[in-house]
Parts: sequence; C-alpha cells; structure tokens
Amino acid sequence: MNKNDYLETVKILNRYAHHYYVLDDAIASDEEYDTLYKSVEIYESENPLHVVSNSPTQRVGGAIQDGFNKAEHRAKMWSLEDVFDQDEFEKWEERVRKLSSNISFYCEPKYDGASLNLIYSKGELIQAITRGDGSIGEDVTQNAKTIHSIPLHVEYDEDIEIRGEVVIFKDNFEKINEIRLSKGDTLFANPRNAAAGSMRQLDASITASRNLVFLPYGVGQNSLTFELQSETMEFIYSLGFRAPPMSITCSTSEEVEKFYDEMVGCRDEFEMMLDGMVTKIDSLSSQAQMGYTVKFPRFSVAYKFPAVEKVTKVKDIILQVGRSGVVTPVSVVEPVNIDGVVVERATLHNFDEIQRKDIRLNDSVIILRSGDVIPKIIKVLEDRRTGDEKEILRPKSCPICSSELLDEGVLIKCQNLTCNARVVNSITYAASKQCLDIDGLGEKIVKTLYDEKLITNILDIYSLKYEDLIKIDKFKEKKSQNLLDSIEKSKGCECWRFLNALAIEHIGEVASKQICKKFGVEFSALHVEQLEAIDGIGKEMSEAFVEFISVNKELIEKLLDTIAPTYEVAEVKESPFSSLSVVLTGTMSKPRGEIKALLESLGAKVGSSVSKKTDYLIYGEDAGSKYDKALSLGVKTLTQSEFEKMINSMP
Ligand code: IVH
Repeated sequence: MNKNDYLETVKILNRYAHHYYVLDDAIASDEEYDTLYKSVEIYESENPLHVVSNSPTQRVGGAIQDGFNKAEHRAKMWSLEDVFDQDEFEKWEERVRKLSSNISFYCEPKYDGASLNLIYSKGELIQAITRGDGSIGEDVTQNAKTIHSIPLHVEYDEDIEIRGEVVIFKDNFEKINEIRLSKGDTLFANPRNAAAGSMRQLDASITASRNLVFLPYGVGQNSLTFELQSETMEFIYSLGFRAPPMSITCSTSEEVEKFYDEMVGCRDEFEMMLDGMVTKIDSLSSQAQMGYTVKFPRFSVAYKFPAVEKVTKVKDIILQVGRSGVVTPVSVVEPVNIDGVVVERATLHNFDEIQRKDIRLNDSVIILRSGDVIPKIIKVLEDRRTGDEKEILRPKSCPICSSELLDEGVLIKCQNLTCNARVVNSITYAASKQCLDIDGLGEKIVKTLYDEKLITNILDIYSLKYEDLIKIDKFKEKKSQNLLDSIEKSKGCECWRFLNALAIEHIGEVASKQICKKFGVEFSALHVEQLEAIDGIGKEMSEAFVEFISVNKELIEKLLDTIAPTYEVAEVKESPFSSLSVVLTGTMSKPRGEIKALLESLGAKVGSSVSKKTDYLIYGEDAGSKYDKALSLGVKTLTQSEFEKMINSMP
C-alpha cells in the first residue's frame, strides 16, 4: 500500500462507516470493512508520520485519563422550558406570536440522553465538552471520538460549535444491562443515565464499547448565514451527522399538535428514548429578536410526552422459577397507569439487585416502563419510609417444589430437574413462536397436560392422542384436534427452530440460525473448534453446546427422529418486493406471521417500524400511528387486498 492507497482506503472506510452509523444503510459487509481497517492499521504502524486525523483508527481511545479537565463553551448551552399539555403549549404559542408575527415552527424529537458540544475548527473535531452548568463543562474529547456518528472531520472550514444529544439505543441498553446483571454489576436505571455514565469514563475503550449515538439538534458559536433553523440543521446533516427520525416545519399550532400526537403515538417504535418534542421558531432572525429569559430561550419549548417513570408502592414479592431453575423475584406494585398501560408488576432482576437498591416491602419506588420492555424499579424513595417497610429475604426453598435452593450469589437456582415449574417452562419455551412454533401450546395448556401426567418432556408431546386430550376438562373436539394438527405441523420445521427449542445455555435464536446455516442438521457431531470458527460464537457458547449435546444425546436423537427438522434455504422468487423493506400494521384477515413469511419468500425484508427507508406499508383495519407516520414520510401504502392483488397478478 502506498500513501495514496492509504488515503483512499481511509476515505472508503469513512464512507462505509457514514452509511452504517449515520444513514442506517450498510453498503459493505463487516468483513469487507474489517479487512480494509486492518490494512490501514498495518500501513499506519509502518508509517506513523502519515497517520491522518480522520482515520478510523483515531477513534480508539489512547491512555486511560486520571480525570477530566474543565472546558468553556464558546457560546452558552441553554436548557429548555417545559410544557406538559395542549393548554400550556398554546400559552407559549400566544406569547411567541406577540413577540414576532408571521412565524413558522420547526419541530423535532427531544432525545433523552446527555447533551454534548462539539467544536470543529478548520474542519477538525478539536474538542467535545459536556453541558456542565451551560458555560463550563468537562472535556470528554477522547470519549466523543469513539462515537461513530460524530465525524472526526467535516467539509467546513470555519469554526463551529455543533450541539446535540448522546443517546443509547433501547435494545443496546437492554443488552448492556443484561451483561451487567450477569456480572453482578449495578444496573443502569435508564438509557439516559447509561449514556451520561458512558461519556464520563476515564477509559475511552469503555465508552467505545457502549455503542453511543450522537444526534445533533443545534449550533452554538458559528458563522453560518442561513435564515432558518431547518436550513441550518439540513446543512449540519450534510456534514455527516445523523438526521432526526422525524421532523417537520409547520405554520399553525394545529399542525404542531398533530405532529406531537403522531410522535407520541409511535414513540415506542423509535430506537432511542424520546421524552418530548422540541418546537423552535424556524426563522433565526425571529429567534434573535425574541432572545432569552435568565434561564431559557424564548423561541423554543419542550412539549413533554406523558411520563414513563411513575411513583408507586411495593405490595408483595412473587418468585418465578424459569426453565433453567433460576428463581426471579417479581414485585407486585400498586397499579399505576404509565403512558396508557396499567402496570401491576415490575421485575426485580435478582436478589443482589434488591439488596443493592435496598428495596423493601411497602417502599415507595419509581418505576419505569418504556416500549415492550418489562417495567422495572429504578429507585427507592427512602425519605418516604414510615417504618412499615419489611426487608425482602433471600428464599431458601423453591416456591414450587420446596426443594432446597442453591444460592450462587447473583443467581439463586432450584436444582431439582423435575421441579414442575422448570419442566413446564422448558416445554412451553420449546413450543413457543421462536422455537417449534406449536400454535395453541402455551404455558396454561402445557401445565394442564403436565398435571394430567400426559407429558413430562418435549418428546411426549408427539405421543399425545386424541383420546387423551378429549378427557381433559375444557378440551372439546375442535380444540383437541387443532392442538394435534399444530403439533403435527411442527414436524419438518427448519433446523434452527429445533436447535433453539433445546434451550441450550447461551444458544439463542441468532446463534441457532448461524450454526444451522453453516452445518444444517449435522450439529450433533460438532467440535468446539468448528463452532468457535463461526462469527459471534465464542468459547463459552461452543463449550455449552458440545457439553449439552453429549449429555442429552439419547433424547436429542429421538427428537431428531420424531421431528425430522429440515435444512432448507427458502428459495427467493423474483418479485416486485425483492430487496424491499416492508412494514405490516393493523388487523389483517390472515395471521400476520403468514403474510410476513410470504413477503420474505418474495425477497422482502419485513421490519417492525416505519422509517424513511421503508418501501411499503401494508395495512389492515384500524391501522394507527404507523400508517400516519408512513403518510408523513411519504412511504407508499397498500391495503391488504391491494397487496394480494399485486401478488396474484405475478407471473
Ligand atoms: S434545543 C436553544 N433540541 O434537552 C435550546 N435540546 O431540556 C437548546 N435536548 O439541554 C436545546 N433533544 O440536552 C434541543 N431536539 C432537541 C433536544 C434537546 C434533547 C436536550 C438538550 C437540552 C435539554 C433541555
């Protein structure tokens, strides 16, 4: 590689990364990226004087710092006035209309993270400063450089401050907490705390591991000459920053309200947590004319979403025994309505976590519910204690089978392999959607069949007979026959489903798919080394796999004979949906899973949320926020019958 090749490779890598981290649209495989990255690393180690500041290698933090230096923002970082309902919003609007006539509004999400000021000079990122008190913050440049959605270099020579929010995507937040839980570390209460905590790491490699994302929302000191906030933001995105998942300019408060309702309606579908919508006067000269109060800009307001954190009381603790015997404490709380859902239970994760947070019966607590995630207790309000609180003790015996529990510290386990709860949960899991997908075999029915002594393991399901079922209370002819039909239908399933149903520790859906993709049904004879060669499968997983297969050889062979899973790569037909991204919403006349499978067989990717990149939204009856969002983004929509017509007219 010569110097020109090196510079060209850096450019290509930055383009790949921009597509991946900013545009959410990968244009290269991980492998291609890694190969080029390695060649850049080698060239740089041989030619240290040629290293350019925007090389992706410069994102990896240097030495561990012993503290953060204070740093001054060039222009003050303001915070926002909050309004909580339509009435308050209209009052704000009335005020601004008095200050400036003929205004239009620019609206975008209010991200729930940690604010950050980036200073670029001559196109280079020279400093990143946390908000601090608005005038002085902490210099976290090393950490900011690890965030891939923060360009190290921009095509703009003047000095400029770019402000935005550092966030952690919700799915990533759950993963980080899962890892912390398994290590016995304190959990982050919410993505905001996780983002703020990650920015204040003295070791930048920890920040790098948290996959933070930067979303710009404004500029500080600058010499831009745009007239509108919206134009300024478009310019910032064009420099290589992420654009918001939705934004709008509007001229009436009705339009603003409508956009707010839309955003509230689909808040759970966004990758990041949002806690409101920010409305700014679009004209920058009007902004300047309105100026600031002592605390806030007059030209901007945060219209908050209904809270996802609420105060309630811990009334009771119940213990759940999972399929691996782990005993999980769940709190029963005084019912509270959180953003339209009545919450009555919150997970407590494990007993170490209860002790760490010092949660007691009758405590007042703050609970958090967001999206599909199970609500959790994030804080105890100790100063509300009255003396009626009772300590929650670590259990000594299994609440289901009464056998002695093994207390391993973080985890408490029921060791009894025949404990009813363990058996019922493992059969229920094996029958679930992401495994053998046996319709109608949920926890309740599995428990009944188990209590009736008709099944003791997954293999027994396949010997169930109509005569056995019909004798059970509430099992009429149709229900019995339907269950037998769906059990029969699970035979010949894709082999990853079979593997996933075995519930091997650490081997979930993704790993099962990877293993089967590579080895098909021939997984019984695999060695640790063969498994480890698969991307993303480590030593621990491989060992758990091999050990499980050898211990349960006999049962697995019988299951393989009975279920006969197949190694089938679905044939993809040429179709009007090839490589398109499709979202389904509303009530359809067929099960969604069926339509999804059909689309996938036509080469479409079926996603769960609508974005600019969605090609089609197919909707049924009572389509709600996804439909509205598709319209606002100009995504093509099809009714279910229009979709079916298209399919039927295919050659
Ligand atoms: S504008 C001139 N826009 O919310 C006004 N702030 O509660 C400065 N935030 O400190 C802020 N999303 O960290 C603005 N789209 C957005 C935002 C946003 C999140 C944060 C920001 C600010 C805080 C105020």
